[in-house]
Amino acid sequence: MNPVIELLNSHRSIRKFTEQKIPRELFREIIRAGQSAATSSHVQAYSVIHVVNPENRKKIAELAGGQNYIAECSDFLVFCADMKRPTEAAQRAGAEVVHGMTEQLVIASVDTALMAQNVAIAAESEGLGLCYIGGIRNNPAEISEILRLPEHVYPVFGMCLGYPDQDPEVKPRLPPEAILKEDYYQDEQDEAQVAGFDETMKKYYLERTGGNKDTNWSEQLKPLFTSKLRPHMKDFLEEKGFKMR
Ligand SMILES: Cc1cc2nc3c(=O)[nH]c(=O)nc-3n(C[C@H](O)[C@H](O)[C@H](O)COP(=O)(O)O)c2cc1C
Repeated sequence: MNPVIELLNSHRSIRKFTEQKIPRELFREIIRAGQSAATSSHVQAYSVIHVVNPENRKKIAELAGGQNYIAECSDFLVFCADMKRPTEAAQRAGAEVVHGMTEQLVIASVDTALMAQNVAIAAESEGLGLCYIGGIRNNPAEISEILRLPEHVYPVFGMCLGYPDQDPEVKPRLPPEAILKEDYYQDEQDEAQVAGFDETMKKYYLERTGGNKDTNWSEQLKPLFTSKLRPHMKDFLEEKGFKMR
């Protein structure tokens, strides 16, 4: 297998880091590699806040649901979808900008995620570990205040970066056959594929926990879909100027 694919297939989230700091030159290189991701119409609709202030890192760790690795990792980043910079640039160039289209929310969120995933891969290629932090959307308004995010900028997720102090197993994924569909959407095999994957995950959890965690993929999904997930997000996004229209 080629080394890039091997690297991609060896990804696992890291939630425990050594005290070793990432050299600044390497840190900058990783961010630059992130920027090389494809970007919709070259709009580069993202900003990354590197949270250096230790007090703010502690506050964010709490606001994200008590995820202490946010305060403990070498570097903590908040990836923000940013429609402010590109719309202001167009405005200065003479455009009468239309704000708040749903498509702008999609473009900025996708751009941000692609950039972040490039950062993740660049980091892993240098032996670093990372964990995405969607938990920052538990309290996006408070976090936006700490980071002084203006209108047309919203925090999509965070990322902890550092040198791994744990070596977790790679988490299985659905087989490619389950997600790759030829010519059109076919779901005849879905139930069987999911049942097979539930078995895979059940084994994974049992082995990883010495028999203590007896669950599977479908069971793990239940709480995600039986509660209203972060219901504050609609109003929060609208307040930030990302509307649904
Ligand atoms: C956008 C996003 C947000 C995430 N948020 C969190 C988080 O807040 N806390 C956490 O511990 N893991 C978080 N994760 C990590 C996922 O739980 C993890 O990627 C998933 O379980 C698959 O495991 P793996 O990354 O080890 O393969 C997040 C992942 C993504 C992509």
